[in-house]
Amino acid sequence: MTAYRYYTASSLDGFIATADDSLDWLLSQPLDAAGPMNYEEFIAGIGAIVMGATTCAWILEHEESGPRPWPYSQPSFVLTHRDLAAPAGHVAVVSGDVAALRPRLEEAAAGKDVWIVGGGDLAAQFARAGMLDEVLISYAPVMLGAGRPLFPDRLDLELVELARNEAFACARYAVAGRPGASGS
Ligand SMILES: NC(=O)c1ccc[n+]([C@@H]2O[C@H](COP(=O)([O-])OP(=O)(O)OC[C@H]3O[C@@H](n4cnc5c(N)ncnc54)[C@H](OP(=O)(O)O)[C@@H]3O)[C@@H](O)[C@H]2O)c1
Repeated sequence: MTAYRYYTASSLDGFIATADDSLDWLLSQPLDAAGPMNYEEFIAGIGAIVMGATTCAWILEHEESGPRPWPYSQPSFVLTHRDLAAPAGHVAVVSGDVAALRPRLEEAAAGKDVWIVGGGDLAAQFARAGMLDEVLISYAPVMLGAGRPLFPDRLDLELVELARNEAFACARYAVAGRPGASGS
């Protein structure tokens, strides 16, 4: 069954980017690419990717494009109200209720999981729709004081795994009431 996973990095005080969308505070931290909760292991289980318009804009501005313009090989969905041209690659520009996207996401994921890249408000939309199973957060050792929130709502979670990866405290949580949580 397809699981919906919010996998991100956060400041210790719960921001995923500064107010002006900088990730300098994050990308400067030491990380073992083969260590706990690493990207390669995570992405291997992902069949489809979903993100908001700001995150998409950041990726298009900062990723080294090379011959492949979109950095993900998985079918990707960008939510926006704007009339954005889809980036080249397997990218669909969509809008509206995330519950209505479910059949398309799960067909695209083809039995693998869906990665909710962010931002926090989009992850909360999935949670409200009953489409958030796991939250995986790598906490960087920095307080930002303000910025783009990790998550804007209350959400009850169960800690499933906790590990250190260089500078990061890596925590994997099951969303209470979802299949990965105890007692569900
Ligand atoms: N730390 C990390 O690992 C990490 C991970 C992911 C992202 N980030 C960063 O965090 C920041 C996130 O930005 P953000 O909080 O603004 O979130 P975002 O989800 O990337 O973008 C929010 C925008 O997406 C559009 N949107 C969201 N839900 C929608 C819906 N249901 N239908 C239609 N459009 C929808 C809206 O844009 P419009 O109405 O304008 O179209 C909304 O303003 C970015 O800077 C990103 O680079 C960091």
